[in-house]
Amino acid sequence: MSAAVTEKTAPSLRTGAFGNARALACRECGNEVELGPSYACPDCFGPLEVAYDFPVVTREEIEAGPPNIWRYKALLPVPVDIEQSPNTEPGFTRLLRADNLARELGLEKLWVKDDSTNPTNSFKDRVVACALSAARELDAKVFACPSTGNLANAVAAAGARAGIRTVVFIPSDLEHPKQVNSAVYTDKLVAVDGNYDDVNRLASEIAGEEDGWAFVNVNVRPFYAEGSKTLGYEIAEQLGWRLPDQIVIPVASGSQLTKVDKAFQELIALGLVDDRPYRIFGAQATGCSPVSVAYKADTDAIRPVKPDTIAKSLAIGNPADGIYVLDICRRTGGAVEDITDDEVRDAIVLLARTEGIFTETAGGTTVGVLKKLVESGQLDTSLETVVINTGHGLKTLDAVSDRVGAAATIAPTYDAFVASGIL
Ligand SMILES: Cc1ncc(COP(=O)(O)O)c(C=O)c1O
Ligand SMILES: [Zn+2]
Repeated sequence: MSAAVTEKTAPSLRTGAFGNARALACRECGNEVELGPSYACPDCFGPLEVAYDFPVVTREEIEAGPPNIWRYKALLPVPVDIEQSPNTEPGFTRLLRADNLARELGLEKLWVKDDSTNPTNSFKDRVVACALSAARELDAKVFACPSTGNLANAVAAAGARAGIRTVVFIPSDLEHPKQVNSAVYTDKLVAVDGNYDDVNRLASEIAGEEDGWAFVNVNVRPFYAEGSKTLGYEIAEQLGWRLPDQIVIPVASGSQLTKVDKAFQELIALGLVDDRPYRIFGAQATGCSPVSVAYKADTDAIRPVKPDTIAKSLAIGNPADGIYVLDICRRTGGAVEDITDDEVRDAIVLLARTEGIFTETAGGTTVGVLKKLVESGQLDTSLETVVINTGHGLKTLDAVSDRVGAAATIAPTYDAFVASGIL
């Protein structure tokens, strides 16, 4: 394959371009290759991920850092001067105690990690910030992605701020607000007639044909994926340097879930939190639930599906990290569960009316799965639980616009108000 960000650029990497990262290691066979624009093992074609030689990292050093993901820069594949390069500075989003929702669901202690407050209103700003750093260090000319929507928003915005050309590819049936949220930052939004898996295939082909393109979730995927670790670091730090007992995470490609686990493992290995058991649960929508189906069938064979769900941001029918999600959820004593589109809509309204948080369909899926896990007894209601809200409801307004609206339309008089029966 002709690597999109050419191999030629690799030798001129500046010292420390990837911080404390040591190499790219194969997740299947452990083989290590040089840091650069590679994403598949040359021996077994397994996926590569970043391996590190961490120095001693203290809580105090982290706490003295900026209120964004760069407070964890020592644990990311980014240079020590990362704060000097323009980026959207995502992260350090709020961790909210959700007592109303907890009461409603019968949980003792619940937190919502609300990533809808990131610069482009989804957790994707985290991964994109790391991918942008890699693209810069590799001297990429074009910053690009195939996307289910949120990633395109984040790439387009980060590219604009960094002054790098962006081209973002989305399925043409994507929610209108997500299309506008990309097109406002870039004049190169490409709508492809096909589903996400078709868009992803096209991106891989372009990456193979063209030089100088950094596709954030294709040829710089190992660097991109590390950004999701910051969700795990933040949750632990915001809990007072402690891991939660249980955490529910949405699954599309599965990258976010696997990186939260990696973050927890790193924090334990570095002595930044106590080693204790935690359970990780994955959430999918029934209309695109290949990982949940495999989990329930007790098999490792994930059969690709054609997505048919309102949770379009989770609509990846052939998830790259699905197998690792299964492994983590089984190993930690968690599970993978799915819910119907109607349950997704109900959960969006439930979260909004209990906690004042308007989530998109991905968050509806996650909260709805949390509810189902409680009802089926898979989740221990006496344990401390965190649920991640990964995106903002304004991006998927249509999902609930038929369900909610004015309770009454009245004339502007007191009598009309009384007659409306609202009181
Ligand atoms: C809002 C939202 N949540 C969750 C996900 C799932 O992320 P992953 O592909 O890392 O599983 C996505 C992916 O696009 C997303 O947009
Ligand atoms: Zn390998």
